[in-house]
Amino acid sequence: MTDTAPPRADLAGRHIVLGLTGGIACYKAAELTRLLHKAGATVQVVMTQAAERFIGAVTMQALSGRPVTTDQWDAREPNNMAHINLTRDADAVLVAPASADFIAKLARGQADDLLSLACLARPIARCPLLVAPAMNREMWAHPATQRNVAQIAADGATLLGPDSGDQACGEVGDGRMLEPDDLLGEVVAFFQPKLLAGQTVLITAGPTFEPIDPVRGITNHSSGKMGFAIARAASEAGAEVTLVAGPVHLPTPRGVRRIDVKTAQQMHDAVLRALPGQGVFVATAAVADWRPAAPSETKIKKQRGDAPPSISLTESPDILATVACLADRPYCVGFAAESHDLLRHAREKRERKGIPLIVANLGPATFGCDDNAVTLIDADGEHELPRADKLTLARALVAEIARRLAAQPR
Ligand code: CTP
Repeated sequence: MTDTAPPRADLAGRHIVLGLTGGIACYKAAELTRLLHKAGATVQVVMTQAAERFIGAVTMQALSGRPVTTDQWDAREPNNMAHINLTRDADAVLVAPASADFIAKLARGQADDLLSLACLARPIARCPLLVAPAMNREMWAHPATQRNVAQIAADGATLLGPDSGDQACGEVGDGRMLEPDDLLGEVVAFFQPKLLAGQTVLITAGPTFEPIDPVRGITNHSSGKMGFAIARAASEAGAEVTLVAGPVHLPTPRGVRRIDVKTAQQMHDAVLRALPGQGVFVATAAVADWRPAAPSETKIKKQRGDAPPSISLTESPDILATVACLADRPYCVGFAAESHDLLRHAREKRERKGIPLIVANLGPATFGCDDNAVTLIDADGEHELPRADKLTLARALVAEIARRLAAQPR
C-alpha cells in the first residue's frame, strides 16, 4: 500500500467471537486479535480455563479492547446467559487455538464450559464456526481426532489448517496452528462472496528475464503485485488458481498453486502445460517482447578499445494471443500496460489479440506500486475502476469476470 492509501479494513463491521482453548499456540492468538482488530473487526475473546494457563486475560483484554469472558456464570450479564448473548450479534465464532480436547467436545455436542456452550448455542444458520486446530502431530494424526474433525466438518464447521512444521514439543509434523497472518487471510477469504466457486483460473504475473549472458539480461519494472492480487482474489472467490510467476519476490497467496519461471519461453510452455481444463486465463505478466537471439554461455568481457557488443534480438512468443487462438480457449483477460494513448492502444490490443476483455493501465505509473486505476474494455464499451489498492481492484475485476462468465451462453 502507498503511504497515502488508507489501511485495508477487510473486516469492517464484522463481529468475531474468538475462542481460546488450552494450547501453547495461545500466544499466537494475541497477535491474531491485534490483526483482526486492525482489519476493522470487533473481537470478543472467550477463554477456557486451560487457555488461561497459557496466556493472561489481561493481555487479551488489552488487545481486543473488551473484557474477556471466561465464565458461564458471569454475573455482569443482565440475564446471566453469557452463552446465548455471545453469539447473537456475531458474524462468526473462531476457535484459535482449538485443542484436540475441545474439538472432541464440539464433535459430541458437549457443553460444559462457556466456549463449548456458546458454540452449541450459536444460531447455526447465520453464525459460522471456524476452527483452527493446534496440537502435537501424534494427537492430530490419531484416528479419534481425525474422526472428530470429520464430524465437526460434517456438522458445518470450517477447518482452518492445521499447518505443518516445527512443534513446540520439539517434534516436526502436522498440527501447528496457522500463523496469525495466515489465519487473518483465511477469515477475510471466508467472508468473500464465492463468485468463482467451481471455476479454474490460470494467471501469469510479473516480468520475464531474458538472458544476454550468465550475468546480464533484459527485463522490466513489473513487480507482479497485480497478478498476485488477482490470484488471491480469485482464490478467495472459490476458484482453483494456478499462478505462473516470473522472477518476483512475493509470497504465494494461500491455496494458490504457483509455478515459477524466468523467461518468456518458459512462461509460454508452463501456461500451455497448465491450460487443459482452465475456465479463465488472466494474463497480467509483462512479458519481454524480445529476447537475445543467441545468449552467450560465458560472460561477455569488455576489451579496451572495443566497440560495445551488438545484441541481436528475436521475438518472444505472445502467450495471450496463442491461448486466445485455441479452439477450446478459456475466457481470456489481457492487460494493456501503456505509457501514452492508453485507451486507443488498449482497444486495438483487445481486438488484435482476439480477447473478450482487456484491462487498461498506465504501466510506468503502476509498476511496483500498491495501488492502481484501470479501465475495463470489452465489446460493449468501457468501465472505469477508480484508483484503489490492488487487492480491491483485483476483487472488483474478479466480480466483473464472474458476471461475464455467468452471462455467457452455455
Ligand atoms: N502478453 C503475452 N505475451 C507476450 C506479450 C504480451 O501474453 N509475449 C500479454 C500480456 O500479459 C498482456 C497483454 O498480452 O496481458 C498485453 O501486453 P503488453 O505488453 O501491454 O502488449 P504487447 O502485446 O507486448 O504490445 P506492445 O508491447 O506493443 O504494447
